[in-house]
Amino acid sequence: MKKDTVKVLSFKELLSTSKTAKEMAAEAEPWTAVVAESQNAGYGKKKRGWFSPPGGLYFSVIIKPKVLEELQLLTFAAGVAVAKVLNEKLKVKACLKWPNDVLIEGKKVCGILTESVIGEKVASVVIGIGINTNIEKFPLELAETATSLKKELEKEVDNKKILAAVLPELQDMLKKDATAIAQKYKLYQNTLGKKIKVLVQGKEICGQALDFDQKGDLIVQLENKKTIKILEGDVTYNF
Ligand code: BTN
Repeated sequence: MKKDTVKVLSFKELLSTSKTAKEMAAEAEPWTAVVAESQNAGYGKKKRGWFSPPGGLYFSVIIKPKVLEELQLLTFAAGVAVAKVLNEKLKVKACLKWPNDVLIEGKKVCGILTESVIGEKVASVVIGIGINTNIEKFPLELAETATSLKKELEKEVDNKKILAAVLPELQDMLKKDATAIAQKYKLYQNTLGKKIKVLVQGKEICGQALDFDQKGDLIVQLENKKTIKILEGDVTYNF
């Protein structure tokens, strides 16, 4: 199937590729990717800072989907695209922790943040992806929970090649319907079946991860056997 051309705008340094992508979203062609070698104010979920020194791969893709409702599924699609490239091209065993973390051996190697931008004429979505590629050392607060491809593979990886592999995978994924995206996500996820703890709006919820629904929400069975749906939150596995 013919793929849309991706216009890649490369920068040496930005505050945040997602910030820049959101600023230009209204005017930009769909499938414009903003890439930076480093970010001074990279951010993730809940506006937490994203460690973005030179060496990592930071990019944000502007898309203009017909329906904006299911942002979670776009995050799933991006997670699958990254996990597939890491597994198939780089031969590392990467899996997905609901909803948007790519892990190697339980440590985070990539984070994905999907944001919508509602313009006057058109609504856009910016999918921001940060991959810890050639990062050698993490700050103390991340040392236990983060890893990089360079640490796992004990060699440098090629950021350009990884970007060039992820973008077409993302295009393929976004041509799929919700059921097909969820199916692919299930191939890489390692959340279902696990006893988990989720922090939802400051409240801790414990239970077993049972399934995802059509929108990508997580269905959890609580200790009292009731099931609830979680739309977003930070999942912990081993506690
Ligand atoms: C998360 O796990 O909380 C999501 C992290 C997303 C980080 C990426 S890096 C590229 C893009 N620019 C940003 O400022 N954030 C995203």
